[in-house]
Amino acid sequence: MASHLLSLGVIMLITCCSLSLASDNSPLQDFCVADPNGAALVNGFACKDAKRVEANDFFFSGLHLVGNTSNAIGSRVTPVNVAQLPGLNTLGISMARIDFAPWGITTPHIHPRATEILTVIKGRIQVGFVTSNPENRLINKVLQKGDVFVFPQGLVHFQKNVGHGNAIAIVGLSSQSPGVITVANAVFGAKPDIPNDLLAKAFQVDVKVVDQIQSKF
Ligand SMILES: *[C@@H]1O[C@H](CO)[C@@H](O)[C@H](O)[C@H]1NC(C)=O
Repeated sequence: MASHLLSLGVIMLITCCSLSLASDNSPLQDFCVADPNGAALVNGFACKDAKRVEANDFFFSGLHLVGNTSNAIGSRVTPVNVAQLPGLNTLGISMARIDFAPWGITTPHIHPRATEILTVIKGRIQVGFVTSNPENRLINKVLQKGDVFVFPQGLVHFQKNVGHGNAIAIVGLSSQSPGVITVANAVFGAKPDIPNDLLAKAFQVDVKVVDQIQSKF
């Protein structure tokens, strides 16, 4: 009996971990509206009782609102993922609006769980991503209104408003919860700090330079 339980445990472990390396699980039912108060520990959120599900569980309002870009990088992401729209739970999809002030950017970042597809609604936006080692090739392009660009899952990418006024992009993401790793914050803003001598070697600069950058995060 104990050995049966053990092998069941191993199978569950393998199932969970191989799925967590891929994109979101495919749903096995019509929907599984997120119940953030659900007690079960699952990969995502437990399902709200289907009999209590209503239209508002599949609804979000607010993407017409201009994001506040008064910040150091001149951009604002308004996300619509499972945290804002519980009906996205298990569906493997989400979206966001990105507002850019003139010359505003999204700093180099990674979505660990999603490919991103972007379209420009207003303005001109330079976009790019970098391929993995050893090439580390920059693939980049300036997009006009109506253009579409895709950023493959897990690759470092960025956006920059290169037009004269504000710019707006709408993005789709292949996860209910894409996650964000902002490279600068993760590397120089880790809590506690990554050792500065390690970063000095990694970036081939003096420790003082690392201290200076770390102090800004
Ligand atoms: C935008 O953000 C800035 C900085 O946080 C804040 O001072 C300002 O009041 C905000 N503007 C609006 C319209 O919310």
